[in-house]
Amino acid sequence: MKKVFVNGYGSIGSRIIQFIKDDPEIELVGVGKYSPDSKVTDAINRGFKVYVPEKNQNAFSDFTITGNIEAALDESDLVIDASPGGVGFKNKKLFYEPRDILSIYQGGETIDGENAVSDLLFNSKVNYADAIGKKHVMQGSCNVTGMGRILEPLRKNFGNSIKRFDVTLVRRWADIEQTDESVTDTIELTQSPHHGDDVKSYFGKESPLFVRAIKVPTRQMHLHIMDIRFKETAPSVDEIHGIFKNEYGVATLWNAKGTKDIRDFAEKLNFGFKDTNMIHIHANMTQKIDDTIQIMYSDDQTGIVIPENHMLLQAMLFEKSHEDAVKHTEKLFNMSEKKRLLESNFSKE
Ligand SMILES: NC(=O)c1ccc[n+]([C@@H]2O[C@H](COP(=O)([O-])OP(=O)(O)OC[C@H]3O[C@@H](n4cnc5c(N)ncnc54)[C@H](OP(=O)(O)O)[C@@H]3O)[C@@H](O)[C@H]2O)c1
Repeated sequence: MKKVFVNGYGSIGSRIIQFIKDDPEIELVGVGKYSPDSKVTDAINRGFKVYVPEKNQNAFSDFTITGNIEAALDESDLVIDASPGGVGFKNKKLFYEPRDILSIYQGGETIDGENAVSDLLFNSKVNYADAIGKKHVMQGSCNVTGMGRILEPLRKNFGNSIKRFDVTLVRRWADIEQTDESVTDTIELTQSPHHGDDVKSYFGKESPLFVRAIKVPTRQMHLHIMDIRFKETAPSVDEIHGIFKNEYGVATLWNAKGTKDIRDFAEKLNFGFKDTNMIHIHANMTQKIDDTIQIMYSDDQTGIVIPENHMLLQAMLFEKSHEDAVKHTEKLFNMSEKKRLLESNFSKE
């Protein structure tokens, strides 16, 4: 049985560990915590073994800690790093590389320049097979993952007849759980967003993709506004919606008034962490104008990357085929059923 350690227990780490604990193919070593706060108790109450930095163990004397992170890494086959952006690179150099351990990094890291954690940014729809045999791979951020779920099916179906993609990312300010982070009353302008280059790293450097981004005061998901320009007349709206009908991790919704409607529905149906783990095409907003399709979809900020981490883990640890990995991920995340429930609740009629 392969052993997996999750380093970090924030928005991403706490979700990843909750889902992969139910994977019968792996043995969960535990989770790394860095601050002696109430989340240590939360992790222990959820049945996880908590490990802390060796040099800081005394600070955790009020808690029942299993051991230190360094020792936990020694016995693990793979680590999922869920540290704050940029810290993953430091962890790679200090802890993962010296142990020659398989490592997954999150979207706050980079694949460019001297702080690159990997040369591969993962998107299961596009480059799943490239992760097989790799030691260090970065999972794309939530926006970068979401764009791939729309772009790849469009390319597969319409290929060369597409002239360009223009995307405006309307990014959420903070996560629901980040109660200590206030949501500022402004629309923040994001200069030189990394998202376009990140997507191009897996979609192709020469892709005609143009991305701009703003940040708005909400905790309720990201929204992407995309114009797809065709070389000649654009396909019909129905044709566009048709290609996403059986697309894994993409729900097509007709009458959600806003992103919070979707979150509230996920909460009502007890989806874990109120996550849908997918993107939602707001089909009532899709329009065809001559050579252009205008489309909008919301992106479940934290939830979307969790099944992706599980797909990546299967490529790196077990070298599974894409088909087998999807089947196994589906057993843990039930995304087909979530999609069905969302689409029937937010249906056209
Ligand atoms: N939030 C999202 O929606 C989202 C979506 C996609 C990707 N990401 C990416 O995922 C990563 C984690 O984001 P997050 O939102 O989960 O952050 P977060 O909620 O702030 O959690 C970060 C966690 O990292 C822990 N930590 C602190 N120092 C560490 C170290 N040296 N090594 C390992 N862990 C350490 C913190 O522990 P203590 O609390 O004990 O100090 C905390 O549990 C970032 O790269 C981010 O860009 C986030």
